[in-house]
Amino acid sequence: MPNAVVTGAASGLGRAFALALARKNWRVLVADINAVGAAETLELVKKEGGSGATFRCDVASLDDVKAMAAFAFGEWQRVDLLINNAGIAVTGTVGDAPIEDWRWIFSVNFWGVLHGCHVFVPKMREQGGGHIINVASAAGIVSLPEMPAYNATKAAVISLSETMRCELAAHRIGVTVVCPSFFRTNLAKGLHCTDEFQKTFAIVAMENGRISADEVAKRALRAMEKNRLYAIPHASIRLLWFMKRVSPAMFYRNMAFMNKSSRFRMVLLALARRGLT
Ligand SMILES: NC(=O)c1ccc[n+]([C@@H]2O[C@H](COP(=O)([O-])OP(=O)(O)OC[C@H]3O[C@@H](n4cnc5c(N)ncnc54)[C@H](O)[C@@H]3O)[C@@H](O)[C@H]2O)c1
Repeated sequence: MPNAVVTGAASGLGRAFALALARKNWRVLVADINAVGAAETLELVKKEGGSGATFRCDVASLDDVKAMAAFAFGEWQRVDLLINNAGIAVTGTVGDAPIEDWRWIFSVNFWGVLHGCHVFVPKMREQGGGHIINVASAAGIVSLPEMPAYNATKAAVISLSETMRCELAAHRIGVTVVCPSFFRTNLAKGLHCTDEFQKTFAIVAMENGRISADEVAKRALRAMEKNRLYAIPHASIRLLWFMKRVSPAMFYRNMAFMNKSSRFRMVLLALARRGLT
């Protein structure tokens, strides 16, 4: 039976990953800073006929991540899949978002992912292979205004994953980076924002997301099975990504032009209501 470690598995996408893996007969270590939610996920994993354990881990702490790896390798001897999924959200333009929020989001969304990679890569090399899925976001590709801190953490995760893909191929360790757009989870509940519009937009965009967390997990696992680097579940983001690669300067000239208009926010909100963000 293959073994997986999933961070941020008490809720949303992490829980969806844990359940999808249980259905595929994987053993899952349900890791999260929220021990109660992690225990609920494990119950659901068992209801699906799966098995595993929980581990309380703050991914922002290197010591916690080392302890989580020691537990997983101690119990199961090998870890075939690590999913660095735990994440939080912060909005607010540069200069307005408090610097503490920048530090906080980097400690989880970037350092949390790096801690996982840093600790698990040598062990996966030793065991002769494995796979790492890093959860980034469409935000790391499209760089929407008013969420620079979130965008920057996710762009860093994409770059890290691309680099690791090259470094680890010779060690039979696959790397997949997932870049979804908005989908329904609890992410907006803990959002730090600088105005009410940002919170409303995030909630509306997530509530109306056209793809569910289950579907994002399914598509990411399919990408892993095919050993693909990128998993971009939303067609709209694949289109925007293509446009950006064709002409990055024009892409951002248009984005800056739209952002200058006082109506841009209203347009974004209308698109979010229709599930088009
Ligand atoms: N929901 C979306 O629209 C969306 C879009 C793109 C990317 N993502 C990414 O998906 C991932 C999962 O988020 P979600 O949407 O399922 O949100 P969620 O809030 O439902 O789940 C996030 C989980 O991470 C856990 N967590 C937070 N900080 C942690 C820490 N320091 N250590 C360990 N666990 C921690 C939370 O307790 C929670 O269980 C995140 O990386 C997020 O950035 C989400």
